[in-house]
Amino acid sequence: MKRESKLIHTGDRKKPGPFIPVTTPIYTAASYFYESMDQLDRVLGREEPGPSYARYDNPNTSGLEELVTELEGGYGSVACSSGMSAVYLGLLAGVMDRPRRVVCASAIYGATTSMLMNILGPLGIETTFSDVCDLAAFEQAVKETKPGAIIMETISNPLMRVGAMDKIAEIAKRAGAALIVDNTFATPLLVRPLELGANIVVHSATKDRSGHGDVLGGVIVSDEAHFNTIKTIARTMGPVMSPFEGYLTMRGMKTMGLRIERQCSNACKVASWLATHPRVDRVHFPGNPAHRDAATIQRLFPKNLYGAMLAFELKDGGRAEIFRLMERMKMIVCVTSLGDVHTMALYPAIASHRDLSPKQRQRLGIGDNLLRISVGIEAAEDIIGDLDQALAD
Ligand SMILES: Cc1ncc(COP(=O)(O)O)c(C=O)c1O
Repeated sequence: MKRESKLIHTGDRKKPGPFIPVTTPIYTAASYFYESMDQLDRVLGREEPGPSYARYDNPNTSGLEELVTELEGGYGSVACSSGMSAVYLGLLAGVMDRPRRVVCASAIYGATTSMLMNILGPLGIETTFSDVCDLAAFEQAVKETKPGAIIMETISNPLMRVGAMDKIAEIAKRAGAALIVDNTFATPLLVRPLELGANIVVHSATKDRSGHGDVLGGVIVSDEAHFNTIKTIARTMGPVMSPFEGYLTMRGMKTMGLRIERQCSNACKVASWLATHPRVDRVHFPGNPAHRDAATIQRLFPKNLYGAMLAFELKDGGRAEIFRLMERMKMIVCVTSLGDVHTMALYPAIASHRDLSPKQRQRLGIGDNLLRISVGIEAAEDIIGDLDQALAD
């Protein structure tokens, strides 16, 4: 080969050799070839697993997909560029061969509401919102609407309501609708929606799955009936996770079990402490024995693992008081995310539920005095100490 050609070919494309790297190296290649064209043909035809083109597959995201499929007890997964692209894929796959109608839990992440109203609505996919914790009303909405898909969250954002997913799955089955569950807050370590009858599960991998505030990603997992459609849409439209984000998410997930245990235990302590604070009106936390959905929570969740998320209402507070409280926080980070090693505070009215009108937020019970906390793995005393000093008059 001439030097110009060597520059392109020498030193690269070596077989890994007789060794196995302990973690998957980052594969930045945009495409892959095989020694036999027959094999490439089989891989491109999806008769044999393997990477061929980065929009279809890469070894980093394939490893992550295998892991999440196993954790959720699904048939297959696709790692996505964000949690919202996983939600989008789930909704498209849900209504693909069904009526273009969706029944959505009224308490849900604001961007999911916006997607349904502002993007899918104008495309002809109609949405009806209904309270997933009022089973009779929800069933009635499904009967009247005859939707192709139903979407809900395991733990709702930001009020921590928990719908009876097993019962909703029966309602969905009777109606012939796909049940899509956003399992971001709960994680498959707490609840596995597919085992409770859901068809499609979506995650924001930006949160506890990667866990260190350095990834934007998502994963969609499904049963066998929906997987081919999901994979085909993902391959065609390309909202897939990059190899680097796949690498970071895999790395993060290795400590997810330990992190979740610690976060859940810390969250129980923080929620109990907040409940006794004179400036706090009400604490929303699934581990609270007096929670409105306690019976469902006891049935669906493992004991003492109620998630890392809680929200509380400030007594006689509003936007100004919440801003002041957040500005006084010294250790807790005031950022728009959740599920990381560090404790975070988020004000739903200006962040996760900003796209909703004040009236819509009021109807959902998201007051201007509501603050959401994602509890991290720091010492519980330090989290409580920071809240205590920030809440001091
Ligand atoms: C419950 C829930 N689902 C989905 C998303 C979207 O995830 P991403 O920001 O990774 O797109 C979020 C983001 O906060 C979320 O809280």
